[in-house]
Amino acid sequence: MISTPDYIHDIRADFPILQTKIHNKPLVYFDNAATTQKPKIVIDRIRDYYENENANIHRGVHHLSQVATQDYENARSRIQKYIGAAKSEEIIFTKGTTDGINLVASSFGALLKEGDEILISAMEHHSNIVPWQLLADSKKLQLKVIPIHKDGTLIMDAFDQLLSEKTKLVSITHISNTLGTINPIESIISKSHAVGAKVLIDGAQSIQHGDIDVSSLNCDFFVFSGHKIFGPTGIGVLYGKEKLLEEMPPYQGGGDMIKNVSFEKTTFNELPFKFEAGTPNIIGGIALGTAIEYIESIDRKSAFDYEKTLLEYAEKELLKIEDVQVFGNSSEKTSLVSFNVGSIHPFDLGTLLDKQGIAVRTGHHCTQPLMDFYNIPGTIRASFSIYNTVEEVDLFLDALRRAITVLS
Ligand SMILES: Cc1ncc(COP(=O)(O)O)c(C=O)c1O
Repeated sequence: MISTPDYIHDIRADFPILQTKIHNKPLVYFDNAATTQKPKIVIDRIRDYYENENANIHRGVHHLSQVATQDYENARSRIQKYIGAAKSEEIIFTKGTTDGINLVASSFGALLKEGDEILISAMEHHSNIVPWQLLADSKKLQLKVIPIHKDGTLIMDAFDQLLSEKTKLVSITHISNTLGTINPIESIISKSHAVGAKVLIDGAQSIQHGDIDVSSLNCDFFVFSGHKIFGPTGIGVLYGKEKLLEEMPPYQGGGDMIKNVSFEKTTFNELPFKFEAGTPNIIGGIALGTAIEYIESIDRKSAFDYEKTLLEYAEKELLKIEDVQVFGNSSEKTSLVSFNVGSIHPFDLGTLLDKQGIAVRTGHHCTQPLMDFYNIPGTIRASFSIYNTVEEVDLFLDALRRAITVLS
């Protein structure tokens, strides 16, 4: 029998929404792979900014503009240090993971030529599939897909075979949002570099479950969304190696990304501003910095280890329920479990769980090719974070048993 450590209860107390009742039942929030809840410090920072600091950044001589600029740039530096980037110029603020991947597809993609190849995997989120399909269509590139085993792990022999001198980019998720599989990105990065290919890591799911060090990983790009690491929606980060970002043309044109504009010729601003056209999500960036400050303030090694224990417990207990089938059985897996129960439609189970206050996700999780691979319409996904408790897992299991009884 495991129990929830006191420090998890302390973390939990920092997240006001977790005290909410849904349909008169205590909220059990198990949809953390979709988005995480926000600690009070982040919520307060947003209010404080609008009450005391609001101004546009980078162009004002007045006091408020300078304060806001300083806070925005401090957030960039904090994020840079948190993910181990060498310079703050390598941290580009984006709208999120999707936006970061589209930026790379557009700007790095501009450097590619007909016949060049891009490799993705069969477990990618749509946002790491569709931008490459659009690019491949417009530039006559080849998009190739690394297949997976039934247990939800990559077929690494197939990866070795697909990789060649023609491969210019390998764009792969660190952790599958549907299966929880942690991919062997260290080996993927070194093998890709050996043939001269660059590597983009989709860190949407990994950013909240472990420490990331882009320098020791040696990836060329790393993208994530702020809302998946206790920050607001509408803000994210693209990390890119400085040399590569220098070589890439701008993504969008507009204010802030230019040095000089005339009708004859425009020169572009230096990094990171070259990729940040227009007024950015200023408070988004600042509050993401606050979210990182929050995660730095807790004992995250223990919290991340605890998440693994919680997953193991949930999976073990779930498998005791008749007809439960879990998708994603890698030995390297993180805090989510995707499953179906017999022939019950995931949507029906999700609806009955919601009535009991349990928030899980049902459906294809933006990974339709993966659903086709397993020949299922969708799954129920329970995804955990550092504030979830053993008691909540028990509530979820009880609610699930009741729902199954109703639907069987
Ligand atoms: C693995 C993965 N990639 C990309 C995304 C897209 O993230 P966003 O919608 O924040 O841009 C998600 C979101 O769930 C994800 O889980």
